[in-house]
Amino acid sequence: MPDTRRLPEGFLWGASTAAHQIEGGNTNSDWWEFEHSQNPIVKEPSGDACDSYHRWREDMDLLAELGFTDYRFSIEWARIEPSPGEFSRSAIAHYRRMVEGARERGLRPMVTLHHFTNPLWFAQRGGWAAAGSDELFARFLTAAAPIYATDVAHVCTINEPNIVTVMAAAQTALASGQAVSFTENPPAPDEATTDALVRAHARAVETVKSLAPHVHTGWSIANLVCQPLPGSEDVADSFRHPRQDVFIEAARGDDWLGVQAYTRTLIGPQGRLPVPQDAERTLMGWEYYPQALGHALRHSASVSGGTPLIVTENGIATADDARRIDYTTGALDSLATTMREGIDVRGYFHWSALDNYEWGRYAPTFGLIAVDRETFARAPKPSAAWLGAIGRTRVLPTEY
Ligand code: BGC
Repeated sequence: MPDTRRLPEGFLWGASTAAHQIEGGNTNSDWWEFEHSQNPIVKEPSGDACDSYHRWREDMDLLAELGFTDYRFSIEWARIEPSPGEFSRSAIAHYRRMVEGARERGLRPMVTLHHFTNPLWFAQRGGWAAAGSDELFARFLTAAAPIYATDVAHVCTINEPNIVTVMAAAQTALASGQAVSFTENPPAPDEATTDALVRAHARAVETVKSLAPHVHTGWSIANLVCQPLPGSEDVADSFRHPRQDVFIEAARGDDWLGVQAYTRTLIGPQGRLPVPQDAERTLMGWEYYPQALGHALRHSASVSGGTPLIVTENGIATADDARRIDYTTGALDSLATTMREGIDVRGYFHWSALDNYEWGRYAPTFGLIAVDRETFARAPKPSAAWLGAIGRTRVLPTEY
């Protein structure tokens, strides 16, 4: 009998990180500046983060030893282009060494070109919404081509553009003295930023393909997993489109689409509803809802017109690692069900490899690997051994 738990040939099995959240000392970025401005979102600055700019070899050694076969990490534009048009050969060589280092350890690198942070100069000229931002992004990608031109099969152009556009709206609101909360009531997306990001993605795909035609390009969207109460389906549609689906639609025809899912969003007649009183919450305040992943995959497949999917992030902020295993078992179960239904899923990356800087604080721990905040010593948790082992056996805990 065929083993219906066996992962298909070539299925990516990895963990994800992002430069600003693990490298430390990203002083030339807009986030570093934001962390040092008085604002209610930042509880503590990123500082040295996990010191992964120096300790990336250790991170990759661990992931490979644990059994993972893939590693998604991002390159930092602020380091590569510290001033407009001025490129750092040293930073490019650094990320190239990471690509080669991953390969040497048997890890296939997935390289994210933009994960939330911008060079300070780019933010100061108006960020994505300013004229010519797509052109500047393409210029950066051209200079950075030596990093990904060989040994890289997957490039993610922009991580969660749908969150980037909400962050742009939040910046404007904060600047005008309004209160902003990401968990309770995030602002509506900034339309000019949305348009610019869709343009920048298309431009990035074109640029990367022209320089490295073999690379499979895509982008990763935060799936809100909107679930309307009966009668609120139309409200959910109009809530979801500008916050998510416009970006999934832009992935039609791409080589792949990244699906990132953590929890769900309940929608009532007035829009977003609070997390139900009796629900278990994670350290993010989000509802514990592992089945989110399956819903996100089904929705992404239908809106993108069948673009192949890769789960580029999925995980849980918890201090209880047994809950992480439980959550991920549920998530993988829902992933297996969608594959059984015939949805084309090509990989799974867990968020995150390390306990890291969660955009304003260190308290929500998403990592498979703990990091001592004083010594930076890494300690894999039981979940890391459990999840990594699937990379070795290539057998899911559940059937599909
Ligand atoms: C982002 C990560 C973030 C994670 C958990 C995603 O929104 O891509 O940078 O740490 O979710 O909040």
